[in-house]
Amino acid sequence: MMTRSFPRSVLVTGGCGFIGSAFLLKLVPRYPDTQFVNLDVLGYAANPLSVAELEARPNYTFVHADLNDADGIYRVLSEHRPDWVVHFAAESHVDRSILDPLAFARTNIIGTLNLLEACRAIWPEADGHCFHHVSTDEVFGSLEDDGHFREDTPYDPSSPYSASKAASDHFVRAYGRTFGLPYRLTNCSNNYGPRQFPEKLIPLMILNALDGKPLPVYGTGMNVRDWLYVDDHVEAIACVLTAGRDGETYCIGGNAEKPNLEVVQEILRTVAAETDRPADEMAALIQYVTDRPGHDHRYAIDAGRIHRELGWAPAESFETGLAKTVRWYLENPAWVESVRTGAYRDWMDQNYGDRA
Ligand code: NAD
Ligand code: TYD
Repeated sequence: MMTRSFPRSVLVTGGCGFIGSAFLLKLVPRYPDTQFVNLDVLGYAANPLSVAELEARPNYTFVHADLNDADGIYRVLSEHRPDWVVHFAAESHVDRSILDPLAFARTNIIGTLNLLEACRAIWPEADGHCFHHVSTDEVFGSLEDDGHFREDTPYDPSSPYSASKAASDHFVRAYGRTFGLPYRLTNCSNNYGPRQFPEKLIPLMILNALDGKPLPVYGTGMNVRDWLYVDDHVEAIACVLTAGRDGETYCIGGNAEKPNLEVVQEILRTVAAETDRPADEMAALIQYVTDRPGHDHRYAIDAGRIHRELGWAPAESFETGLAKTVRWYLENPAWVESVRTGAYRDWMDQNYGDRA
């Protein structure tokens, strides 16, 4: 297996979001000779507190920019001239995509195209460059009770979110074929871990259980997701960046399939073990609510290729990852409070105002 080192400069989009911040927190200290540029619009799911500890590092810079501003994106890329781009930024929540599909088309499709155009403009030669597109297994649609998604599974997206991610995947591959853009693409299963915005299942359930608020389970609670701890996703992307091949796709998954109800019950057991709240009192908070329209029944990834070819495997089991996650939310009340109260926006103005 041929491997390469991290280059002089890497631009990361969406680095104030959940997975982008986990990527930067791990890799900025690991590669001090690489300059990391974090490009983020600081939308509702972004939290600058998530990456605040990187501000003191000389190899880290934040740039406030919107993927939907084609000229602005071109300016940022021509100024920083990154060797690699790792593209996390997106509208990421299925329920929001049902309420406002156009916002998803704008950022996930047109925004990705603006970034691809800027890369094409600053990279006349493919050599030494890489566009890593971070995508989801939701592009493949829904599985019945058996079978797994693989790199060659046909696309069949169900939600406006997954349709917009599918479109962006197609554009990335089209830029590879048509313009010779050097790209790598990963489709990953559901992530969980520290710093995830509490609209997604796991952080929402942790915080509501702690607050004694209702725990809304969609439909029967029997929909299945394949859960991966966020740092395992970060290591998989780092592995593809350094050891993968251009023009190739890698599926990433946790081999941890669970029905939603089981996830909620496991969260309540973990919260009970870490606090003095009785599990049965929290279980009484579970409420079955109207199902999400177009709700995919099951996702599951066959991560055989990345394991065989690049040697990647998840380090965390669902139990160990969930315990770390619950502990993180308990130990970081300032982060939780900032997301809830919107006070992080003041912090953002104070800290990033001059660069906005
Ligand atoms: P997130 O919603 O937590 O973060 C997204 C970040 O992108 C935010 O910081 C936001 O401000 C930024 N952003 C949004 N629109 C932007 C724009 N127009 N210009 C610049 N920045 C913008 O999302 P996440 O969960 O960290 O997901 C990151 C990526 O990983 C997404 O592309 C998502 O499709 C993919 N993914 C997520 C999961 C998951 O379980 N969360 C699983 C597989 C793949
Ligand atoms: P989510 O975290 O929104 O991820 P995705 O829809 O991208 O898989 O939801 C995970 C699963 O949990 C999904 O089957 C929908 C379900 N769910 C609930 O039952 N209740 C909730 O409040 C949320 C947010 C999700």
